Amino acid sequence: MPKVVIVGAQWGDEGKGKIVDIFTSSVDAVVRFQGGNNAGHTIIVKGEKTVLHLIPSGILHPGVVCVIGNGVVVDPEVLLEEINDLKKRGFLSDDSQLAISEEAHLIMPYHKKLDQLRESRKGKDKIGTTGRGIGPAYEDKMARKGIRFCDLENPEAFRKKLTDILSRRNERFVKMFQTEPFDINKIFNDYLASYQKIKKYIFNTSLLVNGLVKKNKNILFEGAQGTSLDVDHGTYPFVTSSNTVAGGACTGAGVGPTVIDEAIGISKAYTTRVGSGPFPTELEDETGKLLQTKGGEFGATTGRPRRCGWLDLVVLKHSVRVNGLTGLVLTKLDVLSGFEMIKIATSYEIEGKKIEDLPASLELLNQCKPVYEEIPGWTENISNLKRFEELPQAVKNYVRRIENFLEVPVILLSLGPERGEDIVIRNPFSSQ
Ligand code: GDP
Ligand code: IMO
Ligand code: MG
Repeated sequence: MPKVVIVGAQWGDEGKGKIVDIFTSSVDAVVRFQGGNNAGHTIIVKGEKTVLHLIPSGILHPGVVCVIGNGVVVDPEVLLEEINDLKKRGFLSDDSQLAISEEAHLIMPYHKKLDQLRESRKGKDKIGTTGRGIGPAYEDKMARKGIRFCDLENPEAFRKKLTDILSRRNERFVKMFQTEPFDINKIFNDYLASYQKIKKYIFNTSLLVNGLVKKNKNILFEGAQGTSLDVDHGTYPFVTSSNTVAGGACTGAGVGPTVIDEAIGISKAYTTRVGSGPFPTELEDETGKLLQTKGGEFGATTGRPRRCGWLDLVVLKHSVRVNGLTGLVLTKLDVLSGFEMIKIATSYEIEGKKIEDLPASLELLNQCKPVYEEIPGWTENISNLKRFEELPQAVKNYVRRIENFLEVPVILLSLGPERGEDIVIRNPFSSQ
């Protein structure tokens, strides 16, 4: 029974939430494996919008187990808000639907503060983070100074850790940033109070997920952010602080690589990016503005406008490679209806020299000028179509060109934000 990783193939916000919700009808469990509440995954069902930041996008399907893996960094306050909101709306009525790793690291108040202070100090050089404390939380994890859910089980040990960390860090906040020191007692009490409410969901989720593997269940691993935001493979340093690529599912969920059968990448039919950093096909003109308006390109987490541009096949080719993609999902094809000509970048150019693979160096990437191919557009509204054969020839040509270039099959086309506005060509969970 298939175990499939779904990842963003661009700079995030590709529509992962919508696609995970579609495939959840065919799975037993959905597992988030990295990131935190920097993510905002949108699902729209009969006009009712759900935006999930931490809880996997399978949660609207009762009976499907949703797991927050050890690789996720969790802000307990945000998690509780999300749980309460879902319950109020009639979801998550059975608490056994949600499991959270005891090894997941916690986002602490000082992580959020540090993220925001650093960004405001950087001024125009800022990364444009979501300000949710993601970077500092992962830094502490790697520096072996993090606090995990399992630490809250022993209040004495938790107080000692917190005191050790804050005795040094408070000094820095006061001296370097001229801010108030953090109150250890307040954090201690707040986090223990949250833990009491969250405790019933805390498990050894590696045991749980591997147990499901043994029982031959269908499992979907849900990535957050996108490949070009990966800390190793993205446009460093304008990236997030986790491994967003498919390989991250193993470390972030506690399963071996031999468990995974497929990796599916989600890409918009064009490109967007939130925050700073290189974006070779960005359109800072009327066309970019039109994509932004037609696509409703405003962040699901921060509400920031998303930068827009044409589809970049150099970025996607890199994504195919570093994720080992076996299939591609194209979303927001409906947004391209009405464009007379659609452009796709197939390579870059620096001073007349052809560049076919994404350069690692930021300086080089900033000099890259996209080399475009033009494909005739279409005018028809395509949101209600149900079969690939019914699509206008121009849409089929666009999809086929992308497939041929990338040498990866497109397995699903998303034609609108609502559940049901899509054409499934191959469901990876029912193909074996
Ligand atoms: P995620 O972070 O990858 O889950 O994506 P977001 O939810 O942040 O952003 C995707 C946005 O596009 C959301 O507002 C979705 O409702 C919307 N969306 C998803 N698929 C489609 C589609 O095929 N067409 C249109 N028009 N909107 C879509
Ligand atoms: P989903 O899962 C789009 C971007 C931020 C910033 C950079 C670093 O909804 O696709 P961070 O707060 O992670 O330290 O910010 O990463 N970013 C995202 N952009 N979608 C996301 O998540 C993102 N999560 C982080 O805008 O450029
Ligand atoms: Mg998003």
